[in-house]
Amino acid sequence: MLAQGPKFTRFSKTSIFILLCLFFILYHQPIRQAQATPEGPSVYDPFREGLQPALPRIPEKIWYKVGPKGLSDQSHEWLHDCLHKNPAHRAQIMTDDTGDQYVQQNYGDRPDIVDTYLSLTVPILKADFLRYLLLFAEGGIWADLDVSCGDVPIREWIPETLRAKAGLVVGWEFDVGWGENFIRQFESWTIMAAPGSPHLLMVIDDIMDGIRQKTEEYQVPVSELTLDMVGNVIDFTGPRRLTDGVLKSLELARNETIDMASISNLLEPVMLEDVLILPGYSFAASSNRYDNENVIGPSLVQHHYAGSWRNHNGGEG
Ligand SMILES: *[C@@H]1O[C@H](CO)[C@@H](O)[C@H](O)[C@H]1NC(C)=O
Repeated sequence: MLAQGPKFTRFSKTSIFILLCLFFILYHQPIRQAQATPEGPSVYDPFREGLQPALPRIPEKIWYKVGPKGLSDQSHEWLHDCLHKNPAHRAQIMTDDTGDQYVQQNYGDRPDIVDTYLSLTVPILKADFLRYLLLFAEGGIWADLDVSCGDVPIREWIPETLRAKAGLVVGWEFDVGWGENFIRQFESWTIMAAPGSPHLLMVIDDIMDGIRQKTEEYQVPVSELTLDMVGNVIDFTGPRRLTDGVLKSLELARNETIDMASISNLLEPVMLEDVLILPGYSFAASSNRYDNENVIGPSLVQHHYAGSWRNHNGGEG
């Protein structure tokens, strides 16, 4: 019994020491955190951020638009394949009529947009305009009918660390392999957006300005605007309108000129503000040429160039 005395005492001293250490740690930890609080929300806590699941801002909805002939068998196949690969996504197929209704119902606070959209008669101008209007109002993914999905699920298109931040996703159409004098443009057959993107509003307002200028120039109402009057559709409502509007909006937001070299010849996505710019291989693999195929990532969609805008009357084929 005596032999256990000193042992017990030694154990107690150790316990007390450990308890003191614990007390010291527990007591000081909350104080350190409390002191950090007055510094406000700018204090970055990577541990806490890491526990938050990254909620994507972009709705899981794919927008399609059919012309008067409806969905071709081929488009039907691509659309089904895409939904099969992305079971969480749903599709909404717009028609000329539902497109008109949608714009009327969702742009009540912009009667100028409603009037202009409903008055336009050239199908390709309306089809271009509609994608920006749908994505600005509701967000989601726009897909032309000649687009098929690759094997990477849409949920993985945006790098995980950027999913909670990305409000607009565009991909270079011509970026690599065209020389440096070529005008780069974002393709417009696949665009992802969160609702209310200011960059898309810029595109929409620029289209409105463009239409106003042309109707004044030719002294015609919007309803009599023809494809010949508007010039190049790519510039007027298409990919270059999208590219110019987004870059202009980004320059306004950043109050600085965007250095094109910093977003050109991409081998990885680049994030500017909340705009994710994907390399050419992501959405437009067939329009970019890389010296070393090993350095590029997967093709996310394939564009089959049904070439609807080439149709002389601006029809949708
Ligand atoms: C934008 O940049 C210019 C020149 O660098 C500067 O004078 C101006 O104050 C800036 N504007 C804003 C709103 O930050």
